[in-house]
Amino acid sequence: MINAVVCGALGRMGTTVGRFVNEADDMTLCGGVDIKPGSFFGIPVVESGKIDELLNSAKPDVLIDFTTANAAVGNVKAASRAGTAVIVGTTGFSDAQREELRRVIEGRIPAVISSNFSIGVNIYWQLLRDAARLLKEYDVELIEAHHRYKKDAPSGTAKTILQILEQEIGARKKVYGREGMAERGNEIGVHVVRGGDIVGDHSVLFSGNFETITLSHRAYDRSVFASGAVRAARWVVGKPPGIYGMDDVLGLAKRTP
Ligand SMILES: NC(=O)c1ccc[n+]([C@@H]2O[C@H](COP(=O)([O-])OP(=O)(O)OC[C@H]3O[C@@H](n4cnc5c(N)ncnc54)[C@H](O)[C@@H]3O)[C@@H](O)[C@H]2O)c1
Repeated sequence: MINAVVCGALGRMGTTVGRFVNEADDMTLCGGVDIKPGSFFGIPVVESGKIDELLNSAKPDVLIDFTTANAAVGNVKAASRAGTAVIVGTTGFSDAQREELRRVIEGRIPAVISSNFSIGVNIYWQLLRDAARLLKEYDVELIEAHHRYKKDAPSGTAKTILQILEQEIGARKKVYGREGMAERGNEIGVHVVRGGDIVGDHSVLFSGNFETITLSHRAYDRSVFASGAVRAARWVVGKPPGIYGMDDVLGLAKRTP
């Protein structure tokens, strides 16, 4: 049995992950953490200041974090102190925060960090890499859309897409939205849409003269991220310390930054 604690337990993703863990035959939901105490699926959710206490008493095998960048760094530090494996789905980290995560994870605990736990998106990233390699001369535009409550922009998934594209076509200037008079250069245009309850849409356009290839992924439900995160949680327990990606979990060629 794998015992899991969910951080951000009362949020959109935390609740969905909690449901998947709770329904899994091989997993036990043994606690939640959020800003305020409460409960989910009949399991107590403790306030964030009590995370060390929870990890020491419940002794989970894995902590799954879908919170905010600041909160996630603190939660991963707590997991590192307790020797608990982590799954980090939170996005919006600064470079300094990524470095801090690396420092508290490497040599201490196994962690899977991914800006997108959907299996489809991980395949989509591979398709984009192949397309970018073949379409270096084409103009590239990236469009992403999410629900009205999403705080970070562009999305973590969009940032991963930009990294993948630039590994194949070389570093390019990014232009975030366009307004007024401007000639198109050799940039990548990045466009962010926020509204309603859009779960997560990403499209990349490769446009040449007389033709455009568009590669898109659309998530219809948060379950795709939650089921991937739970799959990663099963995989990470017992692995040697270090930072892993969904490529490792899915056994794909190691190609995602
Ligand atoms: N990697 C993926 O596949 C994936 C998919 C969807 C969302 N996300 C990311 O997951 C994160 C959460 O998204 P959401 O839509 O669930 O947001 P949300 O706002 O609904 O939930 C976040 C929760 O974290 C809680 N929280 C804040 N500080 C905390 C702390 N210190 N300790 C514990 N809990 C704390 C909040 O109270 C809230 O309940 C975002 O960064 C989002 O971009 C990632």
